[in-house]
Amino acid sequence: MPRLNLPLLMDGHTRGKRSAVTCALKCGNQCVGSDCNTSSNGYFRDIAAGALSRRALIGGGTGAIAIALAGTQGAMAHGPVGAKPGKGKGNGNGNGNGKDKAGKPGSAPNGSELVFAPIAPVDAAVDEFTVPEGFTWHPVIRWGDPIFEDAPEFDWHAQSAEAQNLQFGYNNDYTEIQEIPGSGGRRAVMFVNHEYTNENIMVPPTMDAAEVVEVGMAAHGLTVVELERKNHNVPYEYVRGAELNRRILLSDTFELTGAAAGSDLVTTVEDPEGRYVLGTLGNCAGGLTPWGTVLSGEENFHSYFRAPGTSAQEKRYGLADKPTARGWENAHDRYDTRNAGYENEANRFGYIVEVDPWDPTSTPKKHTALGRFKHEGANVIIAEDGRVVAYSGDDERFDYLYKFVSTKKYVEGDRAHNMTLLEEGDLYVARFEGNSPSAEIDGSAALPADGAFDGTGQWLPLVLDGASQVPGFSVEEVLVHTRLAADAVGPTKMDRCEDVEPSLHSRRVYVACTNNSNRGVGSNAGPDEVNPRTQNRDGHVIEMDELGDQTTTSFAWNLLLVCGDPATDENTYFAGFPEDQVSPISCPDNLAFDSVGNLWISTDGQPSGIGFNDGLFRVTLDGDARGNVEQFLSVPRDGETCGPIIRDQDRTAFVAVQHPGEDGSWGAHTSYFPDYDGTGPKPSVIQVLPAKPGKGKGRGNGNGNGRGNGNGNGNGKGNGRG
Ligand code: FEO
Ligand code: CA
Ligand code: CA
Repeated sequence: MPRLNLPLLMDGHTRGKRSAVTCALKCGNQCVGSDCNTSSNGYFRDIAAGALSRRALIGGGTGAIAIALAGTQGAMAHGPVGAKPGKGKGNGNGNGNGKDKAGKPGSAPNGSELVFAPIAPVDAAVDEFTVPEGFTWHPVIRWGDPIFEDAPEFDWHAQSAEAQNLQFGYNNDYTEIQEIPGSGGRRAVMFVNHEYTNENIMVPPTMDAAEVVEVGMAAHGLTVVELERKNHNVPYEYVRGAELNRRILLSDTFELTGAAAGSDLVTTVEDPEGRYVLGTLGNCAGGLTPWGTVLSGEENFHSYFRAPGTSAQEKRYGLADKPTARGWENAHDRYDTRNAGYENEANRFGYIVEVDPWDPTSTPKKHTALGRFKHEGANVIIAEDGRVVAYSGDDERFDYLYKFVSTKKYVEGDRAHNMTLLEEGDLYVARFEGNSPSAEIDGSAALPADGAFDGTGQWLPLVLDGASQVPGFSVEEVLVHTRLAADAVGPTKMDRCEDVEPSLHSRRVYVACTNNSNRGVGSNAGPDEVNPRTQNRDGHVIEMDELGDQTTTSFAWNLLLVCGDPATDENTYFAGFPEDQVSPISCPDNLAFDSVGNLWISTDGQPSGIGFNDGLFRVTLDGDARGNVEQFLSVPRDGETCGPIIRDQDRTAFVAVQHPGEDGSWGAHTSYFPDYDGTGPKPSVIQVLPAKPGKGKGRGNGNGNGRGNGNGNGNGKGNGRG
């Protein structure tokens, strides 16, 4: 069977859009095609000027909010390594030897141990992984690395599905690392998902087309692998053949849970009961639960299926009667839902997946109670009353933001019980309301007269107490055709919600809206106060406050960041922080927090937005430096920064570098990351750590006189070792 190149749409880069190759392979050209949400729903109510401003409640640098932590989540069974809540008062912005282009000092907002001088943005043509002075980087694991003792070593010229099944998959995205108890911080278990593949740069063009399909399938899925390090000053290495190591493949069984499990909407000829699905697709971001499992979002699942494409349900998810990029439908009947018996196969993808990385024999679950859409990921927080709340964005232009509230409560120490919490609960979708007159939201992203993009909002119920709240939809229909159900209740059309993460420090919720180049274009929804920019190419970040009750149906919100490069765009916004002092940032995607409550943002699409390689950024949330954006690292050419993990106490961070060298081809690669040995690029999980371990911890250069954050006392650390 002759090999065909993947049928890529090659119309070049467009500002505000990602690489054309990434469009074709990651989202099935959803990002360049027509919009799935053609519903007339465009609800956005502006409140008359002078109405109650929530500015004083959230943000504003006043630190006025002091919501007590529930406390329970700090005691998670397998919490973030070394979480240290409640510390870190002084912020001490140092004035040391910063060498970035803005001449900024190394800083340590809120007492963070991770002191660094921000790097200058790196031009998109550069094939380097860049870290701040005093730091170095190390590949923890690469695509193709053998996971098991009997796995073959990776061979660029002899890759096979058989080998790939036993090796680390392609395009690592969400990454989670949990310390193995009792190991003294020397051993950990890492979970990584593999979003999609780019066979054009993975395997030689001479490979048989049938084998290309099987290699590509084997490079999808999930990986669990143990890590080990000798001490905290050296990087982790993965442990081949370790007890917890696992690949979860497209041939592995997932259990459907929740009200839609067993319904007629999810049965197939291979699973007439509608209870078990083989495999997971399009896994993007994710989250750690308080009980030590990991959640992963099935995002662009539609791009793997050929379908009749005639029903409203199919159209709303982008399912169409056209050949897919990888052509799996020609090799396996279930990827063509035109085939008798497989009509519902695509209804079995698009869920939040839960995996227990601590038990290699466990069956992963797909939780229908959280709805079916292009889940970026999901992140959980324990509510004040003990129920758990999961936030999840539907990452497509003009789609929605969702919240799940469990029926049952979290029980400390009862892991088996907690692992059922996501199987039953209430599902909501968000409607935002601005407090400035709509005439002041002109699409330029210029601030309205009250000085803030802000307002209130409502969580609109889709399912309550096991009953559908959407006229004409059964509960099963709400959970499987969630987008259509949501259309009916009038939520706000958003600019592509990516990660949605609650801070365990403040309990505020952060939403990365990565971009939406179609906002205000043609008949599409125009700008509103929560999506204030027409042709939003650089994205923004929303800060939400659930007003003391995470299960509540009303909330306050404001925009923390309106992203872009302030040097070239006058209408960026950094929570009032001086724009000439921030690192430019575009297309926010994944979010994380450090142990002292600073927000970290990784980006996807900066090259086509502001012309720089994607990176990882720290954002100070509290004190006078609120809104300060500092770039920590930059990934190589064509790459995307994913899965950030911040271990500031160890002065280390991890990122998954996805699709380096995406725009290349076999024999003409555009990246040679991470080994730079002339072979080709490998998506890899990278650890960044101090370059000179043991030397004063490299803390360095600040003098800690700080900007003072209201409760800060300066940290006095790092007194001039640089
Ligand atoms: Fe796979 Fe929404 O990024
Ligand atoms: Ca306002
Ligand atoms: Ca993402």
